[in-house]
Amino acid sequence: MDRRLSLLLVSSLLAAALAAASAAEDLSAGDGDALIRQVVDDGGDGREGAPLSDHHHFSLFKRRFGRSYGSQEEHDYRFGVFRANLRRARRHQKLDPSAAHGVTQFSDLTPSEFRRTHLGLRRKVKLPKDANEAPILPTQDLPKDFDWRDHGAVTAVKNQGSCGSCWGFSTTGALEGANYLATGKLVSLSEQQLVDCDHECDPEEPGSCDSGCNGGLMNSAFEYTLKAGGLMREEDYPYTGTDRGSCKFDKSKIAASVANFSVVSLDEDQIAANLVKNGPLAIAINAVFMQTYVGGVSCPYICSKRLDHGVLLVGYGSAAYAPIRMKEKPYWIIKNSWGENWGENGFYKICRGRNICGVDSMVSTVAAIHTAEQ
Ligand SMILES: *[C@@H]1O[C@H](CO)[C@@H](O)[C@H](O)[C@H]1NC(C)=O
Repeated sequence: MDRRLSLLLVSSLLAAALAAASAAEDLSAGDGDALIRQVVDDGGDGREGAPLSDHHHFSLFKRRFGRSYGSQEEHDYRFGVFRANLRRARRHQKLDPSAAHGVTQFSDLTPSEFRRTHLGLRRKVKLPKDANEAPILPTQDLPKDFDWRDHGAVTAVKNQGSCGSCWGFSTTGALEGANYLATGKLVSLSEQQLVDCDHECDPEEPGSCDSGCNGGLMNSAFEYTLKAGGLMREEDYPYTGTDRGSCKFDKSKIAASVANFSVVSLDEDQIAANLVKNGPLAIAINAVFMQTYVGGVSCPYICSKRLDHGVLLVGYGSAAYAPIRMKEKPYWIIKNSWGENWGENGFYKICRGRNICGVDSMVSTVAAIHTAEQ
C-alpha cells in the first residue's frame, strides 16, 4: 500500500477510536460513574447513588476481600496503590466500554506485583521437539455458538493464588478436556505436579525453563507430561500454591496421559474448529485489562499483544453490546485461574476478530490417550 495512504488510514482509524471512546464517556457520564455504582452495589450498605470518597471505596474493598495490613505505613501505602488502581480502572473503562472495569481482589496490588504473583507465562524461545502443527480443519459447518461447559468438559474454576503458575492451570484445563473426550470422564488434574516436577527447558536455550511459581509455558508442560507419562489427579497431588516442595509424582497414580499436542495457526476459524473438535484449548493472552475486569465483553480499542498469562479457551458466542447497539459481536469465552469471585464467575469474555490482546497468537491443542478401561 502507498505509504501516505496507509498513514491516512491509520490516523482516521485512530480518530474513529478516540471518537468512540469519548462517545462512551458521554454515555457513562449520563448514568453516573459506572465504577462507583459497582462499588456501592457490592458494598450493599444502602447508600446507593451517594458520591463516595476513595477512603470509603477502600474500606468497602477491605471488607469485601478480608484485607488487613500489618502496619499503618503498609495500610497507607496500599491505599495509595488502591487509588492509582481506581484511576486505572476508570481509564480501562473508557478504553473498553463494552466491559465493566472496577474494583477487584487485585486492587491493592501494583501492576508489577500483579504480574509477578498472578500471571506466570514465560517467554517462548523455541517449541518443544514433540510439538506438531495442527492439521487444517474444515470450518464451514461450525456452530454459531459453542461452550464446552455445556458439554461437561470443564472442571470448576480453580485459583492459582499468589504464584505465577497460570501456565499449569492452562495445561491441566486442556488435558482435562481432552481426557474427557477420550474417556468420557471429567477428572480434575494436578497443577502442583507441574509446579514441582516440570522443569522442561526450551530446546537450545537451557536458561529458559518451566519454573513453578516463577512462570512456565503450556507447550513445555505438555512436553513434560508426555515424557513423564501423565498427570495425577488433583486430589492425589493437591495444589499448595508454593514451589518450595520436592516432586512427589507417583507414576502408579497417573490419571491422564498426553497422546500428542499441536500448535494451532493464527486463524480464528481454525481456532474455533480445533476447539469444537478437540476440546478446550490452552491459550496465552495479555492480561493488562484483566486486573480491573468485572464483567461483560472485553474489547479494548488498544491492547498490547505481549503475552503474559496462560488461560483456557472453552467456547465462543456473540452478543449485542454497547457502544454499537444492536450489532452482534462475536467473543471468546475464557476460563481463568483466579477463583470464582473474579470476573464472570471466574470466566472472561473477550471479543473475537482482530487478535485482541494477542488472544489468537499462542494456541495449542492436546489429545489424551484413549484408555482401555474407560
Ligand atoms: C493425536 O492423537 C489423536 C488421538 O490418539 C489422534 O487421533 C491424532 O491423529 C493425533 N494427531 C497427531 C498430529 O499425531
